[in-house]
Amino acid sequence: MVEVYEFWTVIVSLIVVKLCHLIYKWRNPTTNGKLPPGSMGFPIIGETFEFMKSHDACQFPEFVKKKIIRYGPLFRTSLFGAKIIISTDIGLNMEIAKTNHIPGMPKSLARLFGENNLFVQSKESHKHVRSVTTQFLGSQGLKLGMIRDMDLVTRTHMEIGARNGGFDAKETASRILMECLAKRVMGEMEPEVAKELTKCWIHFPKGWFRFSWNIPGTGVYRMMKAREQMMKILKETVFKRRASGEDLGEFFNVMFGDMEGGAGKISVEEAVEYIFIFFLISNESTPNVLAATVKLISENPKVMQELKREHDRIFRGRNEKETEADLTWEDYKSMTFTQMVINESLRLTSTAPTVLRIIDHEFQAGDYTIPAGWLFMGYPNVHYNAEMYDDPLAFNPWRWKEKDLTAILSKTFIPFGAGSRLCLGADFAKLMTATFIHNLFRYRWSMKTETTVLRRIILMFPGGSDIQISGETEMDNSSGY
Ligand code: HEM
Repeated sequence: MVEVYEFWTVIVSLIVVKLCHLIYKWRNPTTNGKLPPGSMGFPIIGETFEFMKSHDACQFPEFVKKKIIRYGPLFRTSLFGAKIIISTDIGLNMEIAKTNHIPGMPKSLARLFGENNLFVQSKESHKHVRSVTTQFLGSQGLKLGMIRDMDLVTRTHMEIGARNGGFDAKETASRILMECLAKRVMGEMEPEVAKELTKCWIHFPKGWFRFSWNIPGTGVYRMMKAREQMMKILKETVFKRRASGEDLGEFFNVMFGDMEGGAGKISVEEAVEYIFIFFLISNESTPNVLAATVKLISENPKVMQELKREHDRIFRGRNEKETEADLTWEDYKSMTFTQMVINESLRLTSTAPTVLRIIDHEFQAGDYTIPAGWLFMGYPNVHYNAEMYDDPLAFNPWRWKEKDLTAILSKTFIPFGAGSRLCLGADFAKLMTATFIHNLFRYRWSMKTETTVLRRIILMFPGGSDIQISGETEMDNSSGY
C-alpha cells in the first residue's frame, strides 16, 4: 500500500515540476540578447482577456496605457496564444514595417485569408497583386471607374433611408461598399447570387479576431462555413461565365491576363481567394471608420456648419452649370474641409495597431532583441502626442489646414500602416467616406446622441449607429443648423 502511495507521490511531483518548468519557460522566453520588458501572463491565454476589454474608440486601451507606464514604449506580452511585441515608438514601427514583410495575424484570421492567398504566398505574387489592385483602387482607377457608381449607389441608399426616416450608418456603408466593390470586381451579378453573398457576410463582422479554435458552435466555425459558401458562390459565378463565354469583368480580365504573362499562371481559386480578402478587409474597416466619422461630425455643430457650407457650394455649382447631378472628381478634390474632417477622424480613431508583422529575422531595437517569429504590433501613439498635435484628444479638423491632404502616410500620421503592406484601399476608403458625407448633407440629419463607439481591436457600435434623416433636401434651404 505504501509503495503505491509513494509511486503516485513521485508521479504527481514529476508532473508538478514539469508544469513549473513549462510555466517558467513560458514566462521567461529565451533569446540571444535581452528581450523587451513585460509579462507573458498565463500559459496560452497570456494577457488576452485584459487586452480584449473594450474601450472608448478615441482613447488608447487601458492595457497599453498601463504597460507604457510600467515598461516604456516597447514591451512584450502574449495574446491569442502567440508571443507578442508591442511598440508605440513611431520610428521603430516604421522600421519594422519597412524591413519585415510577413503580415502578422492570429491563426483564425490567417485561416480566413486562405493558405494559398497571393498576399502571403511569395514576395513576387504579393508585389504583383498589389500592382494589379492599384490599377483599380489607385486614384486613377477611382476617378475613371468608381466615383460615379459610388455616388449613385450612395444616393440611392440615402433616398431609401430618407423615405424610412433614417438608417444605420455602418450597415448602410457596408451595403454601399459591397455593391461598389462587387460590381467593380465581378461585374453585374444575378440578384439571387448577390443576395446569397450578402447572407454570408452576416457571419463575419463580429468574430474574426479571436482564438483559432475551429469547433462546431463557435464563431470561428461559423465564419469558416460562411467563407466556404462564399468561395463556392464566387467560383461558380466565374466558371459559369467562362463556360458561356460571358465577359468576366475588368478586374478578372486584368488579373488573369496580367498574371498569365507575368508572375506565372493564376488559378481561379487563387483569384477568388484574392477578391475574398478584399471584401473581408474593406468591410471590416471602412464602414466602421465612416460611422465613427459621422458620429464625430454630429457632435460638433461648428464642423457640421462648415461641412454644410462646403457641400451646399458643390450642389449649387452643379445646378448653375446645369450639368447632370453626378459627383465629379473635381467636386471631390474641392472638398477640402471634408478631407480635413476625414484625416482628423482617422487620426483620432486609430487606437489599434496599424503595423502588424511577423518578425522574419532577429531584430535589434536599441538594447533589446526582438526574436524572429514573434508577432509585432505597432500602435500609432504618435497620433496622440501633444508635441505633434496640439490638444490631441480634441476633434479639430482645422488642425489639417494647409497640410497635404492626399498623403496617407507621414512620420506623424499612420492610420493605414506603412512599408510593403501599406493599405491598398486608403484612397478608396477616403473617397467613399467623402461621398457618403456629401450625400448626407443633401438632408437635414442627426445621429442619436446615445450612440457610443467602442473598440475591441475593431470599432464597435453596441447600440447601433442610427442616423435620423428628414426627406427634405437642404440644398435650397439656407436656414442652416
Ligand atoms: C478607413 C478604412 C481603412 C483603414 C483604417 C485601413 C487600414 C489598414 C491597415 C492599418 C493595414 C495594414 C498595414 C500594415 O500592416 O502595415 C491595411 C492593409 C490592407 N488594406 Fe486597408 N484599411 C482601410 C480600408 C481598406 C479598404 C477599403 C480596402 C480594400 C478595398 C483595404 C485593403 C487593404 C489590403 C488589401 C491590405 C493588405 C495590404 C498588403 O498586405 O499588401 N483597406 N489597411
